[in-house]
Order: sequence, then C-alpha cells, then structure tokens
Amino acid sequence: MLTPYTSSCDIRTLISHTFGLSVHRKWHCAQSHFSIACVVILLLHTLVPSCTGTVYRFPVRRFHSQVVMAKDESNTGVRSQLRIVQRDLSPDDLVKMKNNLNGFSGDGYYIDLDIGTPTQTMQVLIDTGSANFAIAASFDPKVRRYFHRENSSTYQEIGTQIHVAYTEGQWDGVLGSDIVSVSSAPNISARVHIACITQAKDFFIPEAEWQGILGLGYSQLSMPDKSTMPFWDTVVQENPDLEDVFSMHLCGSSFNQTNEEPLMEGSLIFGGVIESLSSSPIYYTPIFKQLYYEVVLTDIMVSGKSLNMKCKEYNFDKTIVDSGTTNIRLPKKVFNTVVKAIDQHIQENGLENLGASFYNGDDVLCLLNIEEFYRSFPIISFSLYASENSSFQLDLSAQHYMRPVQTDLMPPSCVKFGFSPSNTGTVLGAVLMEAFYVVFDRRSSRIGFGQTTCPFPDPKTPAPHLTIHGPVFYLNRNFTECAYKKSDNMDRSFLIISYIMAGLSIVVALPLFILCFLWVRRRVTVIDEGDTSETQSVLPN
Ligand SMILES: *[C@@H]1O[C@H](CO)[C@@H](O)[C@H](O)[C@H]1NC(C)=O
Ligand SMILES: *[C@@H]1O[C@H](CO)[C@@H](O)[C@H](O)[C@H]1NC(C)=O
Ligand SMILES: *[C@@H]1O[C@H](CO)[C@@H](O)[C@H](O)[C@H]1NC(C)=O
Repeated sequence: MLTPYTSSCDIRTLISHTFGLSVHRKWHCAQSHFSIACVVILLLHTLVPSCTGTVYRFPVRRFHSQVVMAKDESNTGVRSQLRIVQRDLSPDDLVKMKNNLNGFSGDGYYIDLDIGTPTQTMQVLIDTGSANFAIAASFDPKVRRYFHRENSSTYQEIGTQIHVAYTEGQWDGVLGSDIVSVSSAPNISARVHIACITQAKDFFIPEAEWQGILGLGYSQLSMPDKSTMPFWDTVVQENPDLEDVFSMHLCGSSFNQTNEEPLMEGSLIFGGVIESLSSSPIYYTPIFKQLYYEVVLTDIMVSGKSLNMKCKEYNFDKTIVDSGTTNIRLPKKVFNTVVKAIDQHIQENGLENLGASFYNGDDVLCLLNIEEFYRSFPIISFSLYASENSSFQLDLSAQHYMRPVQTDLMPPSCVKFGFSPSNTGTVLGAVLMEAFYVVFDRRSSRIGFGQTTCPFPDPKTPAPHLTIHGPVFYLNRNFTECAYKKSDNMDRSFLIISYIMAGLSIVVALPLFILCFLWVRRRVTVIDEGDTSETQSVLPN
C-alpha cells in the first residue's frame, strides 16, 4: 500500500513563537501578503541541494550458512558469528548517491537493483504492502531514467497486460522477465517477473528518485494473479540456501544541526537477521493471513492508559505492516479516540489545543524549542498478539510519531503528525517501523520487532531506555478474538440474517396465509352464492 508524500504543499504553517512554544497559523501560498515570501521559500526549497545517503547492508551468501534466525533466544553463540559484508562506497559512489537519493522519509525507502544484461541499475521503492515488481520502461517526465528492454539480451517478453492501483497512484504495464540482482549483494540473483510500466498516473514522485517498486508481499497479492510470482518468492526458489526471511532497519530522517535535508538511512537484509541491529530481544507476532503482512493488535495505549475499545476495533478490517506507507493509519474511530487522548494529555501539560488541521495532516507545526514540545506529548503504545493469552508492547514517543519535515524556514524544526485515519484498516507504516528492527520471518510465518539501533530522530533529545516490552500474560483473555475475520463474520451475519428472515416470513406469512385462505374461502362462497343467484335469475323457471 503506497501512499506517496508530496512535499510541495507542506509548508503551510508559519510560526510565531513565544517562549519556545508555538502558535501555528495557516499559511496559504496563494494568500496575498505572504505570497512573495512563500514563493521565495518554495524556490529555496527546490534549489537547496539535497545531501542524502543510504546504507544498505546484506548478508553475502558465502556466510549464509551462519545466518541464524533469532527464533531460539538461547542460541546467541551462533548468532554472534553472523557476518555481514557492507558495500564499500567509493567517493564516486557517494556523489552518485547524493544525486539519486532523497532524504524525505515520506518518499519511501528504495534499493538499487541491477537489471538485465548488461545490467541497468534502477532504484526501486521497497513495499511490503504489494507484491509486484515493476519498473518504468518508457519515458515518463517524473522519472530520471527507465529500463530499456531492447538493450537487455536476457529480457524475455511475456506480454500479459497488468494494471495495478495503490492507495495512491496506479500504473499499466506489460509483463516480462529478466535476470535481476541486488546491487549490494550481487550473488543474490534470479530471473524474475518484471512489470514494465508503460503508463503511470500519480505513481512516480519526481523528488523521490525511484523508478520502480519492489512489492515484497505474498504472491496472493500479486497482479493479475499469483502466477506472476513476486521477486522475493522467485529469489528464494532459485537460491536454495537463502532463508525465506528478510528484515528492515529503517532509520528515517533526522534533524541535524546544519539544516541540510534530513538524512535517510536504512538496511534491507535479505535472507536473515542481524542481531546487532537490535538492542533488545526480538519479539514475534504471528502473521494471521499471508496476503499482506497481517498481524493482530490487542491494545492501544496513550500514556499508559488503554483506549478501552473492543480490541477487534483496532484490527477493523485488518492490521498490516507496510513499509510502503509513511504514516501509522488507524480506523477512523480509533484515530479519533487517539487524537482526543493526545489532546487531553497535552492540555494537561500546558500546551494549547493544536487544532484539527494539524491532526488531519494539513498543517505542519514548526517550533523553536522542539525538546519541550516533545516532552509534552504522551507515549503511544501498541500491543501485539504474542499468544492467545499474552502480548508484547511497542512504545512510540513523540519523536517517532511527529515526522520531521524539511522546510527552509530558519531556525525552527517543523513536524507533521504521523497518524492518519483509514477506511481500510490499520497500517503500521514507516513511522512505526522506523522505531524498530522489523523481521519478516516468512519461513515461520511471523513478524519480529526489536528495539532499533538507529539514532533517535533528534540527537539533542535522548531516547527512552526501552521501547519494547513483554511478553505480558493475561488471565482469562483469549486474544484470538481480536482478529477481525471478514469471512467468519459474514458467514455468521448471513446465518443470523437468514434465521431472522425465516422467522419474519413465518410471522408475516402465517396471518397472510390465514387471511388469504379465509378470503379465498369467502370468495368461493360469494361466487357460489352469485352463481346460485345468477343461476336463479338467469334460469327461468
Ligand atoms: C559470488 O559467487 C561467485 C561465484 O559463484 C564467487 O566467486 C564469489 O566469491 C561470490 N561473492 C561473494 C561476495 O560471495
Ligand atoms: C496462558 O496459556 C498457556 C497455554 O495455553 C497456559 O499454560 C498459561 O497458564 C496461560 N496463562 C495464564 C496467565 O492464563
Ligand atoms: C481462543 O479462541 C479461539 C478461537 O475462538 C479458539 O480456537 C481457542 O481454542 C481459544 N483458546 C482458549 C485457550 O480458549
């Protein structure tokens, strides 16, 4: 599920600050007396050179036999031997990276892939909320480069037309296959399906610097059907000694002193888990349905206080872990309850109401004293199903759920609210993933979370000691009930409806039947009488 983030209209709030706390005010670019300043700032915004970098780390197959999943906690001896080869970057590579990457976390994370023969290197967005591997394959003004099929001697056309629509954006393409390897782990390679995008609408983001998408979801999610095997399924199949596991260490963007664009850092580890990327044990929650990476929330807490909703509401109609979504998206009812609880908390802490336009994502908030601001906000906790009677808890501080936004306003730091309402269930997007080391353990059908070793978004504010706790056991609880099962519920409601209908029809039909019966009898009697009278009148004596 991809929700691209458009930066151009984010600068909508101008700040007047007093005593470090902010008063935010809507600032529409079209508005008269601010328009010139606005244009200047927007220009600056586009002209300030980006300074970004991304570090990718991969296990190389040579060491693969030593890659051990954190399944067995007692197995630390073997795990500590795990070695990862980091890609060496020459200064040339660094310069190239600077031009290719954009530091805004809202634009998503992308990885370099080498496609075809001779190889063409493309950047693709990593998305666990979809399952197609698709790249730009014809000219599009929004992408810097595209895949030239005709130049690859190993490209094979399959010809199936594919159309994929995301939460935002869509594309049309034609299916083919070619040899693809991961640039930072060239020994992980396979002939994979490629959807060559020939037409895209609201899909590519000009500033984002990626030209394709790597859907890492299950094959059932693949378009037009599961026979279009996803990239990772094929890679695992063709590389038998590769574990069916990948893990993501997304570090997001951070404020830094020099007011350059926030740096994005992250790792996608194909084939295993690197213990050193987590500073806590890794806690696992089962994947409830292999389509998206579907998990079950058992509780949501604001400042340690449960929202006290029925836990099924948190997973209505599903909860997924999705690297292709920026925010944490919550079902509308849950979202409103969270916002109310946050607002109550900050007002108790002396902040003024931030207003609906901040919470609905229209406004950016810029502050001089961001540390004080952060301190006024509650910890928001998500409990995930660990077993039928236990759960573990993920804590997010304001530093996580307030997304740093780059503006060229000096000197305040600007943030955007990292939650948004949803009609399609809960999405644990990058805002949550960036606070944890997330393991997609497909082999054991579970997702693991460990406390991340990424630096805290604002280096001036220290991180809380622990952001993950558990498992906690509960008496007389069965968390299985928290999972929303569409089919079960439909079946049950259909059953109930049919019983009600049957009951209703008996209740309605019985008197009707009786009435009908009586009426017919009466009519028959009347007709008989008529007949008799007619007979009487017609028939002469
Ligand atoms: C990749 O594979 C080739 C041959 O299959 C081998 O020579 C090379 O050492 C491998 N590279 C790494 C980094 O494992
Ligand atoms: C939780 O469930 C396990 C296994 O079903 C059981 O052994 C344990 O006693 C339960 N714990 C509590 C607190 O109910
Ligand atoms: C919990 O609920 C599920 C589904 O309703 C059921 O299959 C399971 O047996 C229950 N577990 C316990 C310990 O009652």
